[in-house]
Amino acid sequence: MGSNSSSPNPSSLCLDGTLDPHVVSGKIVICDRGINPRVQKGQVVKDAGGVGMILTNTAANGEELVADCHLLPAVAVGEMEGKAIKHYALTNGKPTATLAFLGTRLGVRPSPVVAAFSSRGPNFLTLEILKPDVVAPGVNILAAWTGELGPSSLPTDHRRVRFNILSGTSMSCPHVSGIAALIKARHPDWSPAAVKSALMTTAYVHDNIHNPLQDSSTAAASTPYDHGAGHINPLKALDPGLIYDISAQDYFEFLCTQKLTAMQLKAFSKHSNMSCHHNTLATPGDLNYPAISVVFPEDTAISILTLHRTVTNVGPPASHYHVVVSPFKGVTIKVEPKTLNFTRRNQKLSYKISFTRKSPQTMPEFGGLVWKDGVHKVRSPIAITWLPPF
Ligand SMILES: *[C@@H]1O[C@H](CO)[C@@H](O)[C@H](O)[C@H]1NC(C)=O
Ligand SMILES: *[C@@H]1O[C@H](CO)[C@@H](O)[C@H](O)[C@H]1NC(C)=O
Ligand SMILES: *[C@@H]1O[C@H](CO)[C@@H](O)[C@H](O)[C@H]1NC(C)=O
Repeated sequence: MGSNSSSPNPSSLCLDGTLDPHVVSGKIVICDRGINPRVQKGQVVKDAGGVGMILTNTAANGEELVADCHLLPAVAVGEMEGKAIKHYALTNGKPTATLAFLGTRLGVRPSPVVAAFSSRGPNFLTLEILKPDVVAPGVNILAAWTGELGPSSLPTDHRRVRFNILSGTSMSCPHVSGIAALIKARHPDWSPAAVKSALMTTAYVHDNIHNPLQDSSTAAASTPYDHGAGHINPLKALDPGLIYDISAQDYFEFLCTQKLTAMQLKAFSKHSNMSCHHNTLATPGDLNYPAISVVFPEDTAISILTLHRTVTNVGPPASHYHVVVSPFKGVTIKVEPKTLNFTRRNQKLSYKISFTRKSPQTMPEFGGLVWKDGVHKVRSPIAITWLPPF
């Protein structure tokens, strides 16, 4: 019946075999999220004779709700509502509850938000490469479902349905893959890196009430460590204006900066003749990535870091771009040149971006760099990290 304890115990989690049928029979049972699958909690309640379940979030999930095909009537509530319901159940002599379906909710605000379960940066393997890249729909996704399993995936679930609602990176990935296929169909000559660049530089970072995308695990504004370049935008990605292209040799040169052993490099080069030329990338951060992550070392003698990028014009032949960079507290930023004048399609032009140490920060700082031609906004997120914060 939902404990009042802030640290969940096995029965508040409705773990298998922890509910006493004498206590829960005929009752609606409050179960905390965590440890065992959400649908299994419902099965445990049902097996103990419960007639319904209120699935309450804990701090780990905050107010984010995910739809499930439960085996008994159930509702999911956020952490705050969960606390209020537990307080009511514990302080009332005869608490009662009604579970009702209120219909489909449209126009939810704010939307979209970064899912609590979404993977987060930074990329500890190579801080110079910002991760994640993008965010895409992945919560409560309605999609086709195999007849092999019931909608809860529990072996005891004998229902068979053609559609199901699931959440997770596995539901986000097909959205991105489908849009990548759409881009490739429109631009068959584009490399995988060009497709990814189009997705990243056209992604958006504001929600439907014009605020920065919210992180649903904290209810605070998300950062590029949560959303990368932002939420993908399929129509804009078809016409990005400029792309940051990367060849297989470029990726290999990047690996050459990663202090790999000859044996490890061989794993990447065995099907080709690639070898390290050590002449294209001054630092790992020079990989022609559509995101910019600058890492200031502890050594204060290093006061300027410079990165290089090359953009390819995939818009009109004569295109004139100018750059806009957001302000930072810790550094001054200089982009050279500040304008890029293209005269033909597929023309490549390079620029460099210098970061001069001004005032080291204890926390990473975030912003963006945008090339604008009046039609396109080619945006790269910027993350500036001061070692050693980790
Ligand atoms: C539950 O916990 C809260 C906060 O710790 C406390 O104020 C309240 O009295 C407790 N309720 C019961 C019924 O134990
Ligand atoms: C690998 O080397 C062979 C022989 O030298 C050459 O024909 C081939 O084009 C090379 N392949 C690549 C990917 O460079
Ligand atoms: C691009 O064109 C503008 C306007 O003609 C000019 O002011 C600018 O210097 C040019 N930029 C470069 C890098 O040549």
